[in-house]
Amino acid sequence: MPAVSPFPGAWHTRVDGALKVTGRAPYAGDFAARGLAHGWVVSAAIAKGSIARIDMRAALAVPGVLRVYTHKKRPGAAWFNYKYHDAVGPPGRPFRPLRDGRIHFSGQPIALVVAEDLETARYAASLVRVEYRPDAATIDVERVRESAAEPTKRRSGPPPEPRGDAAAAMASAPLHVDHEYRVAIEHHNPMELQATTVEWQDDGKITVHDKTQGVLNTRSYVSAVFGLSPDKVHVVAPYVGGAFGIGLRPQYQLFLAVMATLDLQRSVRVTLTRDQGFSVGYRPDTLQRVALGADRDGHLQAVMHDAIAGTSRFEEHQESVVDWSGLAYQCDNVKLTYRLARIDTPTPTDMRAPGATLGVYALESAMDELAHAAAIDPIELRLRNYAERDQNEDKPFTSKELRSCYQEGARRFGWDRRSAAPRSMRDGHELIGWGMAGGIWEAMFTKTSARASVERGGHVEVGVATSDIGTGTYTVLSQIAAHTLGIPIERVSVKLGDSSLPQAPVEGGSWTATSAGSAVAAACEALRNDLFKSARRIKSSPLSRSRFADLRLVDDRIQHRDDHSRAVTLADVLQAAGVEKLEANKTAKPSLIGSKRAASYTHSAIFAEVRVDEELGVVRVTRVVSAVAAGKILNPITARSQILGGVVMGIGMALFEETQRDDSLARFMNRNLAEYHLASNADIRDIDVVFVDEQDDRISPLGAKGLGEIGIVGTAAAIANAIFHATGRRVRELPVTLDELL
Ligand code: MOS
Repeated sequence: MPAVSPFPGAWHTRVDGALKVTGRAPYAGDFAARGLAHGWVVSAAIAKGSIARIDMRAALAVPGVLRVYTHKKRPGAAWFNYKYHDAVGPPGRPFRPLRDGRIHFSGQPIALVVAEDLETARYAASLVRVEYRPDAATIDVERVRESAAEPTKRRSGPPPEPRGDAAAAMASAPLHVDHEYRVAIEHHNPMELQATTVEWQDDGKITVHDKTQGVLNTRSYVSAVFGLSPDKVHVVAPYVGGAFGIGLRPQYQLFLAVMATLDLQRSVRVTLTRDQGFSVGYRPDTLQRVALGADRDGHLQAVMHDAIAGTSRFEEHQESVVDWSGLAYQCDNVKLTYRLARIDTPTPTDMRAPGATLGVYALESAMDELAHAAAIDPIELRLRNYAERDQNEDKPFTSKELRSCYQEGARRFGWDRRSAAPRSMRDGHELIGWGMAGGIWEAMFTKTSARASVERGGHVEVGVATSDIGTGTYTVLSQIAAHTLGIPIERVSVKLGDSSLPQAPVEGGSWTATSAGSAVAAACEALRNDLFKSARRIKSSPLSRSRFADLRLVDDRIQHRDDHSRAVTLADVLQAAGVEKLEANKTAKPSLIGSKRAASYTHSAIFAEVRVDEELGVVRVTRVVSAVAAGKILNPITARSQILGGVVMGIGMALFEETQRDDSLARFMNRNLAEYHLASNADIRDIDVVFVDEQDDRISPLGAKGLGEIGIVGTAAAIANAIFHATGRRVRELPVTLDELL
């Protein structure tokens, strides 16, 4: 391989930052189209049952209304379930909008009103009269926990087989903790609402501006459901206003907007309201029991982790909730179980670090309880049980610098000044608590393709079909391209979020920097080699005898490193090749060594300080230190932002975020941002992000592991542990609210 120096990981501000702050980065619901019509969704008022009668006469009579679609009056779409499967959907029968008169969840779309303008559509939608035949429903996992069963089909592997004899080891262990933990239902609530604008083109093709984390997933769904050949469906999502997982699967506004467009042969936009956004995916309600047995020195002798997670009646959404408990610590006797309980909600959807956010919260809370029971410092307990190998899979790690995270995080936080006893630190009427927890997330690499091209002026364009969901993908890919080609970043444009670009999986799982980054590096390296080869080959080239290592791409020419007069212009190279631009395509895949023989994970240690008002019970998170081991850091600015965002969401999970339900209505109730509380600026104080050194040459040549999710994992546990340290009160249900502390 020609020598491209290791990626330096220099900081760079966001290349798309100016577009975003000046409103020039359009989102799915922003795109204009000639003759655009507007759809408004009518949502079911019951959670289960059927539609007895639906009367749309009054709606249709409103001037400006074009159509009202219902299950009775719906243009053709695929009948079979399997046509509605998407690339990341779970096993089951996907929801088919307007398929029939049955209601599966509160807020299910039951009609779409399309009008000349949005206000008319909204008003007319309020005139649609519906009579229902309701059935009894429940959305409370607790009420159906007895019915919980293992998934009938697996989305990925089941939890690892039991090892050793956990029950016997637990019974003989001198120290035990055994508790149930619960986390409130959470909704993703990105700033950008679910939206799709479909542009009808006169040649029968459609351009779909969809709020999605995967343009190719959207394209294959639309083409299968509506029987269109993929070349008739162009999907674009250049910018995504936050998603956190809700854009992984096609959502129902996509179906409705495409359906109406094809029927009317006219462009249509459907944007869901914030309220309707509570009738799509969510982080599933999960009941967890964690039991730990240890000897008097805190060495784990048994680990048991059982989870019961909610899913819909029609699909088996699955997450890795319990697997972490067999992985995080050295223990010979482990039993992990994961079951699903069906309730009358939409299907849950992956939400930032799905599974780990829940499972590691429970495990790291239990570890804190064990540390307290054993009177061992929480870090020391973790060090005594440090896992040098992935015991779930019996593999070494590609790298694991978690010890440095403990060490560096503790140092920055000042952990050695902590007094161990609960309620022993205070400042006036405020109790002060210091807690910590570990975090872990998979470091994945998924097959991804990229192309790179250069035109005569020396401008390089790089394209991948992946999206930038706000994580900094445009920026790191620009840096990687510029570095590989040895040119300034200003000479690179990155194109993303377009189904005509080279194949990429959905942007998710924290795999994009590694996967798309490796593909871009490979494509740019191939382009550079082609360029240099062509420059040497050109007739009477002054570079004919130069080594690649001595050649540089500078502006619009290729020149010798030491003697700039020896140069060939790009114009001459392209002319000799008979092309407008030179282009290279490459696909990056994980190496067998990295993926099969070793396990790759990101790790973190999170330290939190809380202050609890003794009279009011109010909790404030005044300091967080998140120390992260994630391999090579490609860009310290965007990397830090990812961890900050994850920590903020973790603070929200610990103290605020909670989708409330009324089970008599089987409905989520606080369907707006006034009542669904996200952490806001006033809730956030000091957050210190540390990246420890971690060399990982096995995961990919870039050595990076991805950062989109690790920031949230473990954060809520660190805060709950700090609350215990402050107050002596162990709350095992998130969010922790002040009434539990009074
Ligand atoms: Mo993520 S939950 O894979 O967007």
